[in-house]
Amino acid sequence: MTTNIFLSEHEMPRAWYNLAADLPHAPLPPLAPDGSPVRPEQLAAIFPMGLIEQEVSSQRWIDIPEEVLALLYRWRPSPLQRAYGLERALGTPARIYFKNESVSPAGSHKPNTAVAQAYYNKLAGIKKLTTETGAGQWGSALAFACAQFGLECKVFMVRSSYEQKPYRKSMMRTWGATCIPSPSSTTRAGREVLARMPDTPGSLAIAISEAVEEAVGDPSGSTRYALGSVLNHVMLHQTIIGLEAKKQLELAGERGPDQVIACVGGGSNFAGLAFPFVKDKIEGAEIEIIPVEPSSCPSLTRGSFIYDLGDMSGMTPLLPMHSLGHEFVPASIHAGGLRYHGMAPLVSAAVEEGLLSPRALPQLECFEAAVAFARSEGIIVAPETSHAIAQVIREAKRAKEEGKEKVILFGLSGHGLLDLSGYESYFAGQLENIELSPEAIERSLACAAAYPKARDFALA
Ligand SMILES: Cc1ncc(COP(=O)(O)O)c(C=O)c1O
Repeated sequence: MTTNIFLSEHEMPRAWYNLAADLPHAPLPPLAPDGSPVRPEQLAAIFPMGLIEQEVSSQRWIDIPEEVLALLYRWRPSPLQRAYGLERALGTPARIYFKNESVSPAGSHKPNTAVAQAYYNKLAGIKKLTTETGAGQWGSALAFACAQFGLECKVFMVRSSYEQKPYRKSMMRTWGATCIPSPSSTTRAGREVLARMPDTPGSLAIAISEAVEEAVGDPSGSTRYALGSVLNHVMLHQTIIGLEAKKQLELAGERGPDQVIACVGGGSNFAGLAFPFVKDKIEGAEIEIIPVEPSSCPSLTRGSFIYDLGDMSGMTPLLPMHSLGHEFVPASIHAGGLRYHGMAPLVSAAVEEGLLSPRALPQLECFEAAVAFARSEGIIVAPETSHAIAQVIREAKRAKEEGKEKVILFGLSGHGLLDLSGYESYFAGQLENIELSPEAIERSLACAAAYPKARDFALA
């Protein structure tokens, strides 16, 4: 009975996997406001060229630089663990494995891309990075990575999370970063939102506008912006998760997973775990691959596949993605990292290709699952991760009813040790399920009505 399946450092993957190379149809390009495809050099004020090249690459494998590997070794390869405790508690014949990304210094999968992004910026001579953060996991990951490369770091943290999770801010400060609540009065985008909605809980879309504005507005030209999810290069850097997991499942004697499950906010931990298995599925393997989102922010299951802005005030190009509209401000659920109106274009494309089976789950079922997991496995997970666990429990119960011995692999994207206020609110009965009416979704999509339709573009 092996609980942990470890790889040694020299067994760690040396190249990232790019799903864009294998999707049946080439992914759609990002568009400029005039509807023309964005040229790589137009992104140069925001990102360094090393990342822009990865963003538009259709190369299947991209080598991981030695300097990035050297930092990833601090916590990678991460363990694959068999959830014997949860299996026993559920009495399921399913064999449940999870890839534990909570072991990183910042407590989630986010440092996998933070380290790579800080490295390419340092290489390009950049001195400072700005970013947004929802739950604080990404902001602390980037703060950690910037400290390793001697870069300055400024984080705009969504106001509701800033208030719910004050110790994330302390982590960022400890690593030398500055963290301020968003919307703030320090940017034009922030001031505009505050004038229209003074009591807004904030959103990732607003915080992204502020962080991009600060980066492109630096007169010295030595500041860039870093995004913790959504973009192709972020998905790419995270694939080390699934590539390791594949090797580890083999070591565990499994022929492969029947189901792969992870939560989705912007899509990065899901893509990281799942894309190497999406490749197998494209090549004929029978795998059900399930991204799980909150029912209060259901971009994949109830949004439209459209061109939409990545932020609130139009600082980003138009991206082809499932979206609820860039002006959508999600309810202040504790899974702050899942409060994003859109979805990674590569995850969206894989849904359009029929390769994924997305689900949306209500907040209370997710907390209930997180508590069951903590009691059976010991790990207190982030509220984001609880969405994956709730779906795993549904599937494991189904396996029991059907008497099926299936293999379920899920992503444990982060620990929840700084999210305990969410658990407290759950125990106090203060949380509720938030469902959106069809009219509310129609209204929130109106802001994107004038943009080119991704579906039309795909058929053209
Ligand atoms: C622990 C954890 N899981 C999941 C997410 C969702 O982001 P993504 O979909 O990019 O993995 C976040 C985002 O902050 C997070 O902190």
